[in-house]
Amino acid sequence: MALVTGGTRGIGLAVSRSLVAEGARVVLTGRDASVAAEVAAGLAADHPSGDAVGVAVDVRDPASLRAAVAVAAERYGRLDALIANAGVGRMAPIQELSDDDWREVIDTNLTGAYHSVRAALDALVASGGTIVTIGSLAGAHAFAGGAAYNASKFGLVGFTEAIMHDLRDLGVRVATVMPGSVATGFSRRRGGADDAWKLQAEDVAEAVLFVLRNPGRALPSRIELRPTRRRPAGGA
Ligand SMILES: NC(=O)c1ccc[n+]([C@@H]2O[C@H](COP(=O)([O-])OP(=O)(O)OC[C@H]3O[C@@H](n4cnc5c(N)ncnc54)[C@H](OP(=O)(O)O)[C@@H]3O)[C@@H](O)[C@H]2O)c1
Repeated sequence: MALVTGGTRGIGLAVSRSLVAEGARVVLTGRDASVAAEVAAGLAADHPSGDAVGVAVDVRDPASLRAAVAVAAERYGRLDALIANAGVGRMAPIQELSDDDWREVIDTNLTGAYHSVRAALDALVASGGTIVTIGSLAGAHAFAGGAAYNASKFGLVGFTEAIMHDLRDLGVRVATVMPGSVATGFSRRRGGADDAWKLQAEDVAEAVLFVLRNPGRALPSRIELRPTRRRPAGGA
């Protein structure tokens, strides 16, 4: 039974779909209750061997995360995995970065993951569960315009590694999957033919499922996932 933050589209939706298709029960979240409910109902209808329920969560609000964990407990009785995926990107050089954009990125990508882990922790310790954060290669390699996003993802990778050490002897496995460019709506630019070189959201889902499928004694704690081919010269 898994809780996926940011499961309404992109990578979180692909992870949720893969889990439900394998027969898992999933609480998926987004900020809009009706969108989350509609997406979850679609997954459950497509894959009757699994189940999904949509819950409104803003990862900047710890109370909303505690409520989602309570839904998991009430509906499914346990929580085996947290996929801390919700994230935003606001790219601007430091001369142009607004305070609001800085706060939104750090509060969502970094502090939101912290709130997600804190809300789910007791249930995951009880089940001997797994935490997977969706980091990014932007958490290991900085780029111009990435001040807020790089800071959030470098922070997230450090946070994930630290809690991996905190929790491993409690039987909770913690991993981060760090994708390069993925063809989602994340960059505020619609996908197109020039996205063909990128990873697909399903590729990231496969890496998450790889972590979850590993036997409990084995922990692939950090997965860097690149598009095999580089961005084409002159491409977007
Ligand atoms: N796309 C890439 O190239 C790429 C590469 C590496 C890593 N990543 C990481 O992968 C994760 C998912 O990205 P994506 O590409 O799938 O993006 P996306 O398609 O824009 O989806 C983002 C998801 O996060 C949710 N979300 C955003 N802010 C939230 C908040 N405050 N509280 C709760 N949910 C929130 C959105 O749900 P609602 O809008 O419904 O609330 C949505 O489900 C992010 O952490 C991103 O940094 C992306």
